[in-house]
Amino acid sequence: MNPYFCSDFYFRIYKMNKLTVLSGIRPTGYLHLGNYFGAVRSFVKMQSDYNCFFFIADIHSLTTHPTPENLQSGVKQVLAEYLACGIDPEKATIFIQSDVPEVSELYAFLNMNAYLGELERTTSFKEKARQQPDNVNAGLLTYPVLMAADILIHKANFVPVGKDQEQNLEMARKFATRFNYMYNTEVFPLPKPYTFDGKDMIKVPGLDGSGKMGKSEGNAINLYEDPKEIRKKVMRAVTDSGPTEPNQQKTEPVENLFTLMKIVSTADTVAHFDELYNKCEIRYGDLKKQLAEDIIAFTAPIRERIIDILQDDSYLAKVARMGAEKARESASKTLNEVKEVIGFRRFF
Ligand code: ADP
Ligand code: TRP
Repeated sequence: MNPYFCSDFYFRIYKMNKLTVLSGIRPTGYLHLGNYFGAVRSFVKMQSDYNCFFFIADIHSLTTHPTPENLQSGVKQVLAEYLACGIDPEKATIFIQSDVPEVSELYAFLNMNAYLGELERTTSFKEKARQQPDNVNAGLLTYPVLMAADILIHKANFVPVGKDQEQNLEMARKFATRFNYMYNTEVFPLPKPYTFDGKDMIKVPGLDGSGKMGKSEGNAINLYEDPKEIRKKVMRAVTDSGPTEPNQQKTEPVENLFTLMKIVSTADTVAHFDELYNKCEIRYGDLKKQLAEDIIAFTAPIRERIIDILQDDSYLAKVARMGAEKARESASKTLNEVKEVIGFRRFF
C-alpha cells in the first residue's frame, strides 16, 4: 500500500472525535521564554490529546512592514523552533498562515461585521498606534478580525495563548457569536482560552524590572540564545537595594526574578532563595547566577536542536507542505459552509 496514504489514513482516524486546538505566533524574531512558557509548552503537551493546528502568523507580521528577507528568515526560524520545542508534525498540523488562502477570504467576510469603534478600543491597537504613529495601517486595526478568521476557520474549541492575547480572543468569540446570530447558524463554535494545567494564563516577566518579556520590548531571553549571552542578560537584570526587614514584600523587579526562577528552577532552589530573602541574607548576585544556570540548562538542548533543524531545508519544506495540505482541507470545509450560510451559493 502507498505509505503516504497509509499514514494519512491513520492520521484521520487518530484525529476523529477530538476537540480542536489552534494557536499561532508571528514570525517577528526568535522565540523567547515568554513565548515558550506562555504558549509553546502548552502546544507540545496538547498535541497528543487534541486535534491541533499550530501555525506561523506571517500575514499578521506584515503590520510592521518586514523586508522580504526578514519575513523569510523569520518564518524559517519559528518553524525550526516549533519543531525543536517538540511539536511533532505527525501529531499536530504545523502550517504557515499565508499557505492557506481560505483564511484571507474568511477575514474579508468577517470584516463586514466588525465595527470601527470596537476595533479602535482594542488595547493592542491603541498600544501599537502609540508605538508606531507613522504606520497606523488598517491591518493593525483589523488585526483581531484576521486572528478570529485563523481560529474560526478550523472551528477551534481551545486557543492556548499568553495573557496578552486574552482580549483578541474575546473579540474572536464576539465575532463568532455575531455571525452565528446574524445568519441564524451554529457554524462557529466559541473558542476558549486555554492553559494546559488549568492555572491562570501565564505572564512571563522581563528582566528590566517591569512588564512582560517580549520581542519588541527588547528584554527577552531567547531559546536560541548563546549561554554566554544568557549569563550577561541575567546578571544585568534590574533588582533593588535588598530587603531591610524580615519577610518584607518584594518589589516588582525582585518578584520578577523569583517568578522566572519558579518557572525554570526546582522548588527547592526557589525555597532556598526565598528563605534567604525573608531573613534579609540574600545576595542578588548569587540568585542571578543560579537563575542563569537554570535557564541555560533548560534552553541548551532546545538550542542544539534548533541549530540542527535550521540546516535541513528539505525537512522544513516537507513539514510546511504537509501542514499546508491538512490545514487547507480543514479550512476549505468551513469556508464552504460559511459561503453557503452567507448566500454565495447560486441557484442559477
Ligand atoms: P511578543 O509579545 O514577544 O511579540 P508574540 O506576540 O508573537 O510575542 O506572542 C506569541 C505567543 O507567546 C502568544 O501566545 C503570547 O501570548 C505568548 N507570549 C508572548 N510573550 C509572553 C510573555 N511574556 N508571557 C506569556 N506569554 C507570552
Ligand atoms: N496575535 C497572536 C500574537 O500576537 C498571534 C496569532 C495570530 C494567534 N492568529 C492567532 C494566536 C490565532 C492564536 C490564535 O501572539
